Amino acid sequence: MKYTKNLMDFCVWLWLSIFIVQSAHGDVSYSIPEELKRGSVIGNVAKDIGLDLKGLSGRKARIDTEGNSRRFVDINLRTGELVVAERIDREELCSEKLSCVLNVELMLETPLELHRVLIEIKDINDNSPIFPTDVITLEISENADKGAAFRVAGAHDADIGQNAVQNYALENNNHFVLAVRTNDDGGKYSELILDKELDREKEEEVKLVLKALDGGNPAKSGSVAIHITVLDANDNAPVFSQTAYKASLPENSPLDTVVLIVSATDADAGANGEVTYEFSRITEKARKLFALNHQSGEIRLIGSVDYEDESKYEMRVQGKDGTGLTSDTKVSIEIIDVNDNAPVIYLKSLNSPVPENAPPGTEVGIINVQDRDSDSNRQIRCTIQQGVPFKLVPSIKNYFSLLTTGELDRELITDYNITITATDEGSPPLSSSKVVHLSVADVNDNPPVFSKQSYIAHVTENNSQGSSVASVTATDPDWRQNGTVIYSLLPGEVNGFPVSALLSINGDTGVIHAVRSFDYEQFKDFKVKVLARDNGSPPLSSNVTVSIHVVDVNDNSPQILYPSPDGSSVMTELVPRAAPAASLVSKVIAVDADSGQNAWLSYSIIKATDPGLFTIGVHSGEIRTQRDISESDAIKQDLIVSVKDNGQPSLSVTCTMYLVISDNLADIPELKDRSHEDSSSKLTTYLIIALVSVSTFFLTFMIIALAVRFCHRRKPRLLFDGAVAIPSAYLPPNYADVDGTMTLRSGYNYDAYLTTGSRTSDFKFVQSYNDGTLLADRTLSKSCTADEPFGPCDEPETLLQICCPPPSQRYCNIGDFTAEHMDDQE
Ligand SMILES: *[C@@H]1O[C@H](CO)[C@@H](O)[C@H](O)[C@H]1NC(C)=O
Ligand SMILES: *[C@@H]1O[C@H](CO)[C@@H](O)[C@H](O)[C@H]1NC(C)=O
Ligand SMILES: *[C@@H]1O[C@H](CO)[C@@H](O)[C@H](O)[C@H]1NC(C)=O
Repeated sequence: MKYTKNLMDFCVWLWLSIFIVQSAHGDVSYSIPEELKRGSVIGNVAKDIGLDLKGLSGRKARIDTEGNSRRFVDINLRTGELVVAERIDREELCSEKLSCVLNVELMLETPLELHRVLIEIKDINDNSPIFPTDVITLEISENADKGAAFRVAGAHDADIGQNAVQNYALENNNHFVLAVRTNDDGGKYSELILDKELDREKEEEVKLVLKALDGGNPAKSGSVAIHITVLDANDNAPVFSQTAYKASLPENSPLDTVVLIVSATDADAGANGEVTYEFSRITEKARKLFALNHQSGEIRLIGSVDYEDESKYEMRVQGKDGTGLTSDTKVSIEIIDVNDNAPVIYLKSLNSPVPENAPPGTEVGIINVQDRDSDSNRQIRCTIQQGVPFKLVPSIKNYFSLLTTGELDRELITDYNITITATDEGSPPLSSSKVVHLSVADVNDNPPVFSKQSYIAHVTENNSQGSSVASVTATDPDWRQNGTVIYSLLPGEVNGFPVSALLSINGDTGVIHAVRSFDYEQFKDFKVKVLARDNGSPPLSSNVTVSIHVVDVNDNSPQILYPSPDGSSVMTELVPRAAPAASLVSKVIAVDADSGQNAWLSYSIIKATDPGLFTIGVHSGEIRTQRDISESDAIKQDLIVSVKDNGQPSLSVTCTMYLVISDNLADIPELKDRSHEDSSSKLTTYLIIALVSVSTFFLTFMIIALAVRFCHRRKPRLLFDGAVAIPSAYLPPNYADVDGTMTLRSGYNYDAYLTTGSRTSDFKFVQSYNDGTLLADRTLSKSCTADEPFGPCDEPETLLQICCPPPSQRYCNIGDFTAEHMDDQE
């Protein structure tokens, strides 16, 4: 059987090859199209084999198939026809085999007979081409070149041969054309050929419909949608929305302020279109201030911006897409000024200390004012505090000169704190101030000033050497050495003594010391000038008069001027016998070098030849008769007179007054005894008498002359007012001044007259200072001859004229008297 089957296969092949319809072994074969209706007659097999129709049913003719395969055909026993028993689908039976033969057997019994029947199933175009998927998706990059081919999965048609897919067709479209190609195995497939470039940015997806056509008649077709996704190619660089971005930002804006947002778009898709941002060019400074969000393009403030530091920032921002195409843009950020800077005052120079004698308008300092802000925020007004002698004068640009406006006086204000305020014109304005400390330098502009206009000091005579006499103080408000006071005595002469011989002064303390012991009788008072000098350069000084009054101490005994104290008998008074009672006989003249009470003399007769005959004026020293002289009275009368001053204790001295009661000197033999047996006593006596006579005559003449002269003028007050004239020879050598009613006076009288006169105190000063003390040998000396006879005299003025050279006008002018008159004499 196996052999048979192989043989049959061989036969079929042979049949096909040589187109033999009838089997060589008596087999029959038919050819039918597939898909015939059931019952369709394939052929009359009985007749074709040559069987008797009548015997068919008897012989149990039947169709057998091999194995269990389905029975597609059957035999009509009545007609002997082979009919289709079941739908025959060629594609099912043979799929893609080119020949499809259905092999059945016709069996007959009695006798057993077997016939092979071959039924060739012919294809009909009953299947359309079918694409494997409903939709074909393709991804094509947009930058695919023209002519690029993209193979499309072929369609399948179950039919074979001509009925299989013969062609493809593409719907009209803009980009692709179709190329149909044949496989190695003869199958057809198609390729999409890019005819016009794709641009994803215009068209992301291209939809095509591809039709597959078979070769049947009529032809059947199948179509498929082709979805082409245009794949992005990074063919677009990011594009910024503006070519340049500008933003303005007030300085001191808070952190995180969004300054601006740059944005760039990229037409590309996906990563190619994702733009990230970064700074492509930025200064280090700006980098610390601005941060760029890479994704959003937002520029934020991350530091503090200061207009004064930088007013404008420029940077470039780059936008970059996924594969690195870039573009960039310029970003300028302008910082807006805010009035955040107070003006600053700089003291550029300061002439401190400024000398106090600087004239008004002196420049003492230069000030510079700065404000880091701009525009009106840096317009500055500068003011100076009130009440100081300074002003600000605008100079070039932001410079101001600080000038004095008035006189400065260090002694009043030693330093100034000058507050200078600068205010800008921002809103709100800011201001600042500066204190300029200026000190005033001393200039030696104040002389020392004594605490008193003048000083009076009293010093007791016979003081010890070096004892302090007085103290002066002067103050000088100047500074340091300009205010350091040094005392000194102005050189000068006091009665012939240089001042330095009398006084010394402590230069530092102003204490005046006596250099020597003072004698009231020598200097009753005197004036010295103390100079207070400061130590400045040049120094300033002032002087003050210090009047030193030497206070008298009763250290001088009265001194008898007349009668001669040496007890010489030459001085004998003649008392006429006819003298009535109370007639003036003689006068005891005494002086006391002391003053005041110390020179207040009182006279008394302590012993007399006849105590009842003569009396003496207690204060005048005048000796008068107490009664008429009688014949019985002795010719010689001696009186011992005591002269006593009023000091404590009082000092006294005695003298003897010789009186002769006689009318004629010749009657006095005793005189010869008293003249110490001098051989020339007689001659002397005669001389005396002659001198007295001449003197008396001269005296009388002068009285008349003076009376005539002075009756036309104010009666001068003379030195020896009320005093008894004394020949200069009798004055003590160091006689200074005799005070008291009965004694000589000088200095005080001078002062008194000068102050009542029209003279200035200056004059008085000079006079007093230079000539406050009369020296005996300068007073009434020289012109008055010591040995000139001299008698009692009631008129002191007269006496002066007698003693001194002819009177001059100066007698009227007491102030001039001493100095000039004496000068004349010298
Ligand atoms: C000026 O200021 C200084 C220090 O602040 C102070 O010592 C001085 O007394 C002041 N002077 C005046 C005149 O106010
Ligand atoms: C004293 O005054 C003079 C100018 O008269 C001045 O030059 C000097 O500096 C002053 N001395 C002091 C210590 O102030
Ligand atoms: C003493 O002071 C007076 C006035 O104050 C002045 O005229 C005189 O020159 C001064 N004398 C001296 C030596 O300074």
